[in-house]
Amino acid sequence: MPDLFSPFTLKGVTLRNRIAMSPMTMYRAVDGKMNDYHVMLMGSRAAGGFGLVFAEQIAITPDGRTGTSCAGIWDDNQIDGLARMCRMVKAMGGVPAIQLGHTGRKGSEQKPWEGKRQIAPDHEDGWQVRGPSAITYGGRYTYPVQELSIPEIHELHQAYADAARRALEAGFEWLEMHFAHGYLGASFFSPLANQRTDQYGGSLENRLRFHREALDSVRAVWPERLPLTMRLGCDDFHPDGVKFEDSIWAVAELKQHGLDLADLSLGMNTDDVRDPPFSQAAFMVERGNRVKREVGIPVAVSWNLGTPAIADQVIREELIDLVFLGRPALANPHWPIWAARELVHPDPFSLLPQDWSWWMKNRPGSENSHGWPAANT
Ligand SMILES: Cc1cc2nc3c(=O)[nH]c(=O)nc-3n(C[C@H](O)[C@H](O)[C@H](O)COP(=O)(O)O)c2cc1C
Repeated sequence: MPDLFSPFTLKGVTLRNRIAMSPMTMYRAVDGKMNDYHVMLMGSRAAGGFGLVFAEQIAITPDGRTGTSCAGIWDDNQIDGLARMCRMVKAMGGVPAIQLGHTGRKGSEQKPWEGKRQIAPDHEDGWQVRGPSAITYGGRYTYPVQELSIPEIHELHQAYADAARRALEAGFEWLEMHFAHGYLGASFFSPLANQRTDQYGGSLENRLRFHREALDSVRAVWPERLPLTMRLGCDDFHPDGVKFEDSIWAVAELKQHGLDLADLSLGMNTDDVRDPPFSQAAFMVERGNRVKREVGIPVAVSWNLGTPAIADQVIREELIDLVFLGRPALANPHWPIWAARELVHPDPFSLLPQDWSWWMKNRPGSENSHGWPAANT
């Protein structure tokens, strides 16, 4: 029976445990490039014991960013910053992961602490947002959406492939496509955002075409030995939006196109959600488990899994394969070690790089003198 600290192998990559730092947009990139801040953020989480370490969503085109302070991978000159981060994560025993994305109609946005409102296309920090149909998101996203033409869709698929090629060159060993949270991929799947009448809209089959083609173009350049995964917006929590049952079918389809693992999350294609379970612990696990069982594919989920006993339980019961932590990974760079102590792991400091753990194990000092609260024994 696996537990939270069991290694996990997918394709040619083995993670040292089941704990991932979930992708998180931090609004600290300059000119779309990663810098010392990101090396620190991802490097410290790898040093803190996370097995898989994501950077933020990385945009495949300039208009695929959330805002101008978000990172991208549309140019070879962005590889260097990403490569520095990958080297640090690997040096600390983690596996570096990239999440490729395009924000679609939810781009051109202010930083959260500056208001998180959409910025006008004619403002120097804004741009014309694009999506499957000319349907404005609403709420904080007030500007008109330009419907993508078919040649533009093909250009985006090429941009995914070019981004994957650069990600490989940077040293990433795990590639996730961000098709959730109301961004471009998610919006193609959702009738709330996609009202096209061509081959990319209408039937379920057509609304998944963008995903299949994007996946095919990435798989063609991303080596078979490395995991290719997708964060899928599997439920819009709206009667006219994506239904979870349709997502089970979608993951089975994507598996045929080379998907190695499904990371299930919310559709977020509208603010008008009905009964969103945001305050429930582990609320995505049940959906993840259905996909795992019914499709027969490894599954990861995030959302409210920061309590060690819960995170451990969902792995022990083999409900899902990996636990993605967002806010807990921001709050505590050493979450895995803290969790190991809470769960009475026989050797919590073994999760640290050896040159640190040696001191903790061999120079015990007086009780709690290392600054850790007493373990939950
Ligand atoms: C600051 C912040 C930024 C985020 N940015 C992204 C992102 O770039 N891509 C993504 O897929 N999810 C993003 N998320 C969602 C997280 O990856 C995660 O799915 C979510 O926070 C739920 O996990 P948690 O309950 O452990 O926080 C972000 C979350 C936070 C808190």
